[in-house]
Amino acid sequence: MKPPAGLLLSSIELDRANAIPLYRQLYLQIRKQILGGRIQGGVRLPSTRTLSKELALSRITILNAFDQLIAEGFLASRTGAGTYVGTEWEGRVLADADAQRQPPRLSDLSQSMLSLRSNHFQGVSYADWAPGSPTSFLPSHSTYETFPQHIWRRLMNRHLHTPSKAMLGYGELQGLQALRQAIAEYVFDARGIDCDAGQVVIISGAQQAFNLLGMLLLNPQDSVWMEDPGHIAARIALQAQGAVVVPLRIDDQGIDIQQGLAQCPDARLVFTTPSRQHPLGVTMSHARRQELIDWAARNQSWVIEDDCDGEFRYHGRPLPALYAMDQWARVIHVGTFSKALFPSLRLGYVILPQALVEPFCTLRAVMDRSPPTLLQAVTADFMREGHFLGHVRRMRTLYQARQQALVEQLRQQLGDFLSFTPVDAGMHLIAWLPPQLDDSTVARELARHNIHTYALSDYCMAHALPPALLIGFAGTPEHQARERVEALARALGELGYLPARQVVL
Ligand SMILES: Cc1ncc(COP(=O)(O)O)c(C=O)c1O
Repeated sequence: MKPPAGLLLSSIELDRANAIPLYRQLYLQIRKQILGGRIQGGVRLPSTRTLSKELALSRITILNAFDQLIAEGFLASRTGAGTYVGTEWEGRVLADADAQRQPPRLSDLSQSMLSLRSNHFQGVSYADWAPGSPTSFLPSHSTYETFPQHIWRRLMNRHLHTPSKAMLGYGELQGLQALRQAIAEYVFDARGIDCDAGQVVIISGAQQAFNLLGMLLLNPQDSVWMEDPGHIAARIALQAQGAVVVPLRIDDQGIDIQQGLAQCPDARLVFTTPSRQHPLGVTMSHARRQELIDWAARNQSWVIEDDCDGEFRYHGRPLPALYAMDQWARVIHVGTFSKALFPSLRLGYVILPQALVEPFCTLRAVMDRSPPTLLQAVTADFMREGHFLGHVRRMRTLYQARQQALVEQLRQQLGDFLSFTPVDAGMHLIAWLPPQLDDSTVARELARHNIHTYALSDYCMAHALPPALLIGFAGTPEHQARERVEALARALGELGYLPARQVVL
């Protein structure tokens, strides 16, 4: 004979001031006791009359709770014999009270609970969203105070004041036509790409494109040429699709295609950042671009051209995009508004060879369909009314001035310690450290002093490079360059990296 559940049930505590109805509180507590093994399968519950008296509840309230528990299989009602805990709950081990209260932490989960694919994401940092500290030199922390908020608000209001089916319903899978048209015109002028709006697909940032393209174009074990050092998040996205990465070194013309041909001539895809190699900053030469396209055409391979900040070129005219040179429909051009506008917008675009448009869109249909139409419409207006080009022009001048101011301060205060050359494009410098130092250690120790940089070695795979830090300049106003470099120098001094005379400022 199983022990009666009366004692256990009498431990039920009801909160009459709580907004949760009493029948539901009772239901939740009995359910929790069954799940936790405190009341075992087969135990007869006290009668509704007893419970009603003991808990000072109406019988209707108790019956409501019982009905739900019966419907869910926790309790069973036997005619004339009362209500029992379902037999399938027999033999449950009493759970530890603390363990019951705490959801398991990820570190408690055995790896077998996650997919093998999830191994690729281990250790990926997602802390970068935090607002930049005053001494953040992270390249991703650029300027937001100069964004023309009043224009953006006006354009946003325009669409909010006239909500329409087009604005509120599911958007076009390929992206808003008006935005695709504006992008097609923009890339023609800025990047020499002659495409029509039908080849443009709007995405939620470039990173989404890397994931989707990996899914669409790669089979497990396919080889992929990647720049080394290169864009970390893109590598992980492609590896997670089962790609085998072939790291190719970077020389003064860009990715080393000869190494690729020697090591793995039939790679299925190459990922490259020709307009500003990420992170080293090299612009891929014209000859190298042609060589890459010829190889892709010969081999029927795909080329993902990541052009994330082509807008920020300070010297010389940009070379045409790879996509613009490709007659064989092998290149996919990926652009983003994360740098030119702001990253939380989560809007980017892919320009696809015609044959890939439909397969890419059908893949999107089972992912997230399309980004919010409202934001696409505002971005389209921002481009069509000339604000985009004006903003980019102002930011280019601003970033150039910021680079100059930071370079001056770095030379004055840390010229004997760091070596660097100003960059022609992008938003960060590569500051080379004395060769005996380990850049990850330096970056980690600086972060503890609230100075944020990236270590170059984090971007490297097979080809080790001398130690260096990525120092973003776009987020440092000119008038703050001196004090921020002072803070950097002070931290380096305190960490023992600088000779004594440099510590005194
Ligand atoms: C090399 C590179 N490509 C692309 C991106 C843009 O990513 P998203 O458009 O997803 O913000 C970044 C962002 O930092 C980047 O560094």
